[in-house]
Amino acid sequence: MAETPYYIDEDVGRDDPTQTGDESLPFKSLGFAVLTHGETHKFLTRKSVTGEIPEGSNASARLEWRPVAKAAMKKAVNYAKAQKKKAEKEHEQLALRQKEHADREKVLDEAKKIVLEEDSSLPKPVRIKLDDTDPEKIKLGDGKDTKGTRVRVFGRVHRERKQKGIMFLTLRDGYGYMQVVLAGQLAKTYDALTLTRETSMEILGELAEVPAGAHAPHNRELHADFYKIHPGWKAAGGDDAITNRVSKDTEHATLLDLRHLTLRGETASKVLIVRDAVEYAFNVVYKELRLRKVSPPALVQTMVEGGATLFGLPYYTEEAFLTQSSQLYLETCLPSMGDVFCIEKSFRAEKSLTRRHLAEYTHIEAELDYINFDDLLNHLELVMCRVLEVALANPTVKQYIMDLNPEFEMPERPFKRMKYSEAIEWLVENNILNEDGEPHKFGDDIAEAAERRMTDIINRPIFLTHFPAEIKAFYMLKDKDDARVTESVDCLMPGVGEIVGGSMRIDQHEELMAAFKREEIDPASYYWYTDQRKYGSSPHGGYGLGLERFLAWLCKQHTVRDCCLYPRYFGRCKP
Ligand code: 4AD
Repeated sequence: MAETPYYIDEDVGRDDPTQTGDESLPFKSLGFAVLTHGETHKFLTRKSVTGEIPEGSNASARLEWRPVAKAAMKKAVNYAKAQKKKAEKEHEQLALRQKEHADREKVLDEAKKIVLEEDSSLPKPVRIKLDDTDPEKIKLGDGKDTKGTRVRVFGRVHRERKQKGIMFLTLRDGYGYMQVVLAGQLAKTYDALTLTRETSMEILGELAEVPAGAHAPHNRELHADFYKIHPGWKAAGGDDAITNRVSKDTEHATLLDLRHLTLRGETASKVLIVRDAVEYAFNVVYKELRLRKVSPPALVQTMVEGGATLFGLPYYTEEAFLTQSSQLYLETCLPSMGDVFCIEKSFRAEKSLTRRHLAEYTHIEAELDYINFDDLLNHLELVMCRVLEVALANPTVKQYIMDLNPEFEMPERPFKRMKYSEAIEWLVENNILNEDGEPHKFGDDIAEAAERRMTDIINRPIFLTHFPAEIKAFYMLKDKDDARVTESVDCLMPGVGEIVGGSMRIDQHEELMAAFKREEIDPASYYWYTDQRKYGSSPHGGYGLGLERFLAWLCKQHTVRDCCLYPRYFGRCKP
């Protein structure tokens, strides 16, 4: 009896094991038929829907089964061979993986039996932070004759690597980083074999110099003799490991969603540590200059910088706003406290997504009494440079600034001073157009892009002064020599643009009232501000500096969003 052939219908057949390959249940490909049933059979094929109809035949010719061509058979045999090889390889790999898994389970089971015990004959450990280098407290051993101090440290695993059965950890505690060496049994415990980044550890051991040619923070390493990972201290691993959630390639928006984890990275933590030092330095420098610190309210009922950027909120039965600036309140402190400053949050309902706008930012503001405009500029320059000196006096902070901004140099004093009218001329000469695409003219608000281009080209701090009254806030004093302009200043920094805005204030009651009228602001709710001009006025002025913008310049960060803990801006109010 002739052998029953296998049928292949390239159009309606199916390559799946439930097909028998007989005429009613054909396969789809010859390759599959050969792979599943071998090559020593008879195979018949057709394309029942799309097949060519030989000339002179009718459509039913498509349904005719034909023997397969030799070339097609050869191709199918090769395909079947390749598939078989591939399956064998996969099978081998699976077996290998299973063996590895079983081996690892065995090793882990063995590892579970290792229980570390602290050697009570060793010297009592000294508790230190990871940046402690106090020679009174700590001595480094040389690994041979000189013994190092035995210390107890706490920290999280920042990085880890294994080399010939020895584990090298970089531990992090927010104060510094320390290299830790786990050798012998210490590297073989279950905890060591399953160690994940960010796991918290308590480690005891002797501090030693790093071997010649090796590098580690403070040129030292901790030779651990005992450690503990307390319950709950282990960090997630596998898919959930921190390295799978935030990395250099993660999108900026995701990094901000995961800011609580991003903060553990070196860049974010350095910026925030510099921020702490800079904020502290402002306090120090203001104290040197005898300014007193005050704390004005955040909930207010008056605007300072124009209604467009006010956040309103229901306040019991009234309406209130989040403050845009504490300036007006600072002015009220001058008569009783002398020069004053504050470091408070300001809020701007700006719907702009630029890299220098936040909805909530830290505003460093000062107000000085009995001064003239020149005094204001000199003070501002002094404060900014002294703040840098004080911050950089701390070696860790200096190192972090240089890590983040290797080209950083102390700004040259005096800062370049440039009048608004000169800036307009400069922009025209340098072909930098205004927002309407036309050459700048007197009265134009210099837009962010033009301002930044100018600052970047000039490439040094600039005091841009004497802005026209129409484009500045109502409270600014007019220049007595040129009534078109005000005694106002913006400090511009390369890479960022404006970081400070300040001015002399109108100190005459009538002139202030006229300014309210010009700006169509009802002065009634400003009675406490206008009263200052009724009860012994004085020539005074002040400024506000955006801390995040100052840091973006100092730490060379692309955006102010990376210079605060949890940035708030248009579209983001989390986490
Ligand atoms: O120029 P501004 O609006 O000036 C004032 O608020 C004055 N009342 C301050 C004063 O004289 N006491 O803001 C001052 C500074 C800007 O130069 C900028 O550094 C920062 O505050 N700033 C912002 N920073 C981040 N995001 C925003 N949306 C900001 N708006 C202003």
